[in-house]
Amino acid sequence: MKGALVFAALAVFAMECEAGGYGDNPRPAAKTFEEKVAMSYNYEPIGSNDMRANSIPDSWDWNDVDGNSYLAPSWNQHIPKYCGSCWLHSSLSVVQDRIKIMHGGDGIDVMLARQVLLQCAPLANLSNGCKGGEPSDVFGYMQKYNLPDEGCFVYKADDTDFMHLKKEGISECPAEGRCVNCMTGHKPECYAIENPLTYGVKSFGPVPEGEDAMKAEIYNRGPIVCSIATGKALDYGYRGGVFIDVNNVTDVDHDIEVVGWGEEDGVPFWKIRNSWGTFWGELGFFKLRRGTNELQVEKDCWYAVPDISMEKEMLDGKLVGSMEKGLVKKDEAEL
Ligand SMILES: *[C@@H]1O[C@H](CO)[C@@H](O)[C@H](O)[C@H]1NC(C)=O
Ligand SMILES: *[C@@H]1O[C@H](CO)[C@@H](O)[C@H](O)[C@H]1NC(C)=O
Repeated sequence: MKGALVFAALAVFAMECEAGGYGDNPRPAAKTFEEKVAMSYNYEPIGSNDMRANSIPDSWDWNDVDGNSYLAPSWNQHIPKYCGSCWLHSSLSVVQDRIKIMHGGDGIDVMLARQVLLQCAPLANLSNGCKGGEPSDVFGYMQKYNLPDEGCFVYKADDTDFMHLKKEGISECPAEGRCVNCMTGHKPECYAIENPLTYGVKSFGPVPEGEDAMKAEIYNRGPIVCSIATGKALDYGYRGGVFIDVNNVTDVDHDIEVVGWGEEDGVPFWKIRNSWGTFWGELGFFKLRRGTNELQVEKDCWYAVPDISMEKEMLDGKLVGSMEKGLVKKDEAEL
């Protein structure tokens, strides 16, 4: 009994998120850069002119650009129950922070519907839900189907509600899986919103390996998502400051959002947002030694450029909102 408990605890340490891991199946082999480019959409890496060292500052932090934060709120992927959904939290933070950057920091922060991705993407063979996934699953889903915000669905850390459709060979979530509303007096009380406000991606793909390409992408366009290897020392032992891995951990099992970089007491670091709640690390963030591929952080990063055109049409008055159907064209709206 005691042995089983120890084993269970070790198993948890080894599987924070299963980024790239697929339950009991072996993790697919790491992809080459060319294979990742082949999975991309409208691949537009930052041009080499932007990569000149003199165009990139010594430190950068999207949480503090001349005193302003361009980051949307932090999340905890593990409530109301454990779910290996780091892949979607880190990737959606990248998209919603880049939306905030596109807004120039003005207006209301967009919080994307994590639950819709969790319950719908596996139907299209994009991710394995709470058992793991990749940034390309998130960006690929958003490119194909678009994603509403959390006003359509709250996070449940549960991927099971629509999984039966996959067994029936259905690859697209019904409207009930994408946006719902409940209204007193309405029959049925809860109903699907056919046309909610959604966001997409115009371009996504891998960031070339290494510090310079990562910095150029972050500085020019916004935060990126990277895979890392974790381990007990980081998960349970991190108490602030720059984390340096002394265990040579290489088993990649987690995805995080890199929001900037700097140097502390002579040690260069990446500033990283985690998705384990603000009670972990430094307000939910941590610093990781930079330039040494610590925890494999400089090997497998992805960018995405958000598509906010639907929001713009609503702001311009071309689309108007409604309780029954969601967004409708202004000239077709009932008065
Ligand atoms: C998902 O994968 C299964 C098994 O390989 C396949 O039969 C199915 O057609 C795929 N569905 C989609 C939407 O790609
Ligand atoms: C980690 O790698 C370094 C450099 O190869 C080596 O000196 C060190 O002993 C390794 N540490 C562990 C715990 O394996």
